[in-house]
Amino acid sequence: MTASPPDTTPAAPLAAAAIRAYFEGGAGDEVTLRANAAAWRAIGLRPRVLATPRQVDTQVTLLGRRWPTPWLAAPMAHLALAHPDAERGLALACAAQGAGLVLSTQASTALESVARAVLPEPQRGPLWFQLYPYGEREDWLRLVQRAHRAGYEAVVLTVDAPVQWAGERERASGFALPADWPQPNLPARPETGTLEALLARAPDWDDVAWLRSHSPLPLLLKGITHPADADRAADLCDGLVVSNHGGRVLDGLPPTAALLPAVVEAVQGRCPVLVDGGLRRATDVLKALALGANAVLVGRPLVAALAQGGAPGVAALWRRWHDELRGAMALCGAATIDALTPALLCHGAFHPL
Ligand code: FNR
Repeated sequence: MTASPPDTTPAAPLAAAAIRAYFEGGAGDEVTLRANAAAWRAIGLRPRVLATPRQVDTQVTLLGRRWPTPWLAAPMAHLALAHPDAERGLALACAAQGAGLVLSTQASTALESVARAVLPEPQRGPLWFQLYPYGEREDWLRLVQRAHRAGYEAVVLTVDAPVQWAGERERASGFALPADWPQPNLPARPETGTLEALLARAPDWDDVAWLRSHSPLPLLLKGITHPADADRAADLCDGLVVSNHGGRVLDGLPPTAALLPAVVEAVQGRCPVLVDGGLRRATDVLKALALGANAVLVGRPLVAALAQGGAPGVAALWRRWHDELRGAMALCGAATIDALTPALLCHGAFHPL
């Protein structure tokens, strides 16, 4: 009699359909979720010919350091629901392929363990920590100091979700996090009280200024959509991320491709501007960079790759994207990321698809 192979995958605590609904879904009618991807697709490319560079270089400079690629994994909560490789697998694959990583406050893996996987990799991208402002200011600072000690290079404060509730797709699927689900980086339990309690705790600009003055790490704000907020953030912080949270918080926000140009204009080069939402292939990233983003964050494509193929699946995605970006840059006559400019883009070329 042959012994059956050991089952090394922990039993999924939830039905696969509920987990998919959590990762893929968005807020409300998912108008913003769909528009994010459609808006990148609707931008046309109009390169000049007979100008092919002899070499193509995808490096970018962020916060004073040079990195191999213009992309980072966006912070995403609870990745152990997608695959047992979870955050460590995502981190290893990103580091091996020169991509950066922003680890979520709500990761299912301790931030120190993820840092140990990433930091020794010689070709890695940036390692940043995303902070949800749960609890008191001192709770946030303790967590930032912990991330600093572990080797993280910046803090990304998410400012667009002081109030959040389950999307309809997620609710209909019956998704609910098990009570004992690991969240080893939470500064304090997320507020689960009434709307009034959440509103009373919502952070403001004074809190950002306080954190900036106490933080040992550079501070970026994630979730900027309005140029006036971008102007303020550029004076106060070290960078910002144009994001509508992948359409997961407030449905009806415009797609980030439409928001990015006014933010770039308002910032006037004072700090790096990153963007996320709906980037589904490397040519989308090329368009974001041409619109003035210094780098991008990528969310759902990575969680899908992780769920399907674990860490090797994520590595394969980044290799495909890197090949596509280099090929597209060559076809667009761009030897470097800086050579990607709005002149390459052709708006109104397609109806939104
Ligand atoms: C997120 N996002 C997110 N953002 C954040 O600041 N902290 C978090 O913990 C999470 N968690 C999270 C979970 C899941 C499943 C998703 C899909 C997204 C938002 C994320 O960082 C990013 O803004 C969007 O995912 C970008 O859009 P795309 O690339 O998913 O379209």
